Amino acid sequence: MSSELDDFVQDLQNRIYDETKEAYGDVAFERWLNPLYMGSIDNPDGYGRVTGSCGDTMQIFLKFENDRIKEASFQTDGCGSSAVCGSFAAEMAIGKNPDEIVEITGKAILEKLGGLPKEDEHCAFLSAESLQEALHEYMIKQT
Ligand code: FES
Repeated sequence: MSSELDDFVQDLQNRIYDETKEAYGDVAFERWLNPLYMGSIDNPDGYGRVTGSCGDTMQIFLKFENDRIKEASFQTDGCGSSAVCGSFAAEMAIGKNPDEIVEITGKAILEKLGGLPKEDEHCAFLSAESLQEALHEYMIKQT
């Protein structure tokens, strides 16, 4: 009986994985399984927090060294797509200077992860907006 239940759960999980992979593509799927750069950074040099129209909040934390991002991370209470996008926003920001960070737009994040279903595209824009807010806070601290 327990083995039947285990099989049922395993089948269900496989089905969810297959459907997710098909809808989101390999790159986003892998990142969904392993959302790199998730977490907060103590005393960040730049911090951005934006709540999207969907009601989800994205936070981005940045640490700079010699005007380049040394460390970046994200936290979100949103959907799986927002975790994937926050993770890519952090990854794309590492090693960049402020001029280069400005170029990390929602569109750039979507391109990096190979696109998302239309209804999830806003998650990339929310991540980019939070990143730009974190950069803005860093820039203000420099003046
Ligand atoms: Fe709100 Fe993805 S649905 S960030």
